[in-house]
Amino acid sequence: MMKPIKVGLLGLGTVGGGTLTVLRRNREEIARRAGREIRVEAAVVRDVEKARRLAGGALHITTDAADVLNNPDIDIVVELIGGYSPAKEWVMQAIANGKHVVTANKALVALHGNEIFAAAQERGVMVAFEAAVGGGIPIIKALREGLTANRVEWIAGIINGTSNFILTEMRDKGADFGDVLKQAQALGYAEADPTFDIAGVDAAHKLTIMAAIGFGIPMQFDKTHIEGIAGLTSADIRYAGELGYRIKLLGITKRTAQGIELRVHPALIPKKRLLANVDGVMNAVLVKGDAVGPTLYYGAGAGAEPTASAVVADLVDVTRMHTADPEHRVPHLAFQPDALSDERILPIGEIRTAYYLRLRVEDKPGVLADVTRILAGREISIVAMIQKEPKAGENTVDVILLTHATIEKNIDRAIAEIENLPSVSGQAVRIRLEELNRS
Ligand code: NAP
Ligand code: HSE
Repeated sequence: MMKPIKVGLLGLGTVGGGTLTVLRRNREEIARRAGREIRVEAAVVRDVEKARRLAGGALHITTDAADVLNNPDIDIVVELIGGYSPAKEWVMQAIANGKHVVTANKALVALHGNEIFAAAQERGVMVAFEAAVGGGIPIIKALREGLTANRVEWIAGIINGTSNFILTEMRDKGADFGDVLKQAQALGYAEADPTFDIAGVDAAHKLTIMAAIGFGIPMQFDKTHIEGIAGLTSADIRYAGELGYRIKLLGITKRTAQGIELRVHPALIPKKRLLANVDGVMNAVLVKGDAVGPTLYYGAGAGAEPTASAVVADLVDVTRMHTADPEHRVPHLAFQPDALSDERILPIGEIRTAYYLRLRVEDKPGVLADVTRILAGREISIVAMIQKEPKAGENTVDVILLTHATIEKNIDRAIAEIENLPSVSGQAVRIRLEELNRS
């Protein structure tokens, strides 16, 4: 067998520790697959003592990134510190020094991927990022290679383990939002800044990456529409359930005749869909290709060893392709760099989907007629409607409507008119609804 390929880790936390554990435990099996041993030589951290306790003595642990980045013996740099800086500077330096890079950092790839891949292309090195989307699920591999015959039509996924874990625990156990978030942090699922998980930013990073490799467009995080789970109420989760739906934080990107939809937000999904039954920290991505139809990828979306599984898969890929000519490698974004398209990303007002609306209305004749007249005036048709019983002593009731698909700006205009009706109190709740059927 050839001499070992040498790896330097930047970061030895949840994912770095998991990577070391998996590489050590499955050393022989991995070497048989890669064709040579993958050996971790050094790790860069802030707290050396903590890292020594985790790694044991066999590893050079340092606070000086130059020990890895400028070390001519290191072939692959694995960036697992997270965040933008110094992660970006270190990745760029590793590339400039001719090292291949593996990263789990979706924030970095979504925001700076275009620049990083251009530099890597120029220098003839690989940058692999399987762990950046869906934890241990090999979705990047599937999109870049397995589905390469297809024109991808849409991708929809539950791609943030922390928020899915929170929504599931709240629904099943009536658990408190803050308590479940603390649990997710203790389990190593949450980002360093957990608002990224809750506010949909982490899911948007991942969606940006999937859209780029699915459609052959540059990374465009700044054009991704983002809403998180903080505004969801238990009443809406319950009403959605009564109507046969579950509410999930969904990342969805679709190719339409007008442009590409790119959006993260809570959405109702029919309970009967597999995706609606993806619970806890599990993630799943549904990809619709024109030839294959819908395909579903499911697995642990976060955690030490599931994420390490993806990091190590990248290490094996890079090791196998290490000596190949750069033009024989799979392009970073699946499409050849000079063949990326500049298809327009649609503003959120132009997307087309169905809606769940909850209104608080006076319990008297004619109110629903006013509401349906406004919707009809904007050519929005209603699929289902329920009116709840008024509580004792109250004369207002909740009315829940499900609509057929329409353009978002139409529903927003209709809602503004409805909210102005004297018989409607407060603001309407509007949640998007995705049928996720074969079309
Ligand atoms: P983590 O547990 O916080 O570990 C971060 C590691 O990086 C620690 O060893 C830390 O060292 C080191 N580090 C951070 N800033 C540093 C700096 N300026 N200089 C030197 N060392 C530094 O993070 P993680 O959960 O493993 O996440 C790592 C990356 O993987 C992130 O990009 C994250 O988004 C991504 N990811 C995580 C998961 C998951 O389930 N956790 C899943 C998929 C992707 P000290 O401990 O000494 O401070
Ligand atoms: N914080 C992320 C999540 C980690 O909860 O999904 C995996 O990317």
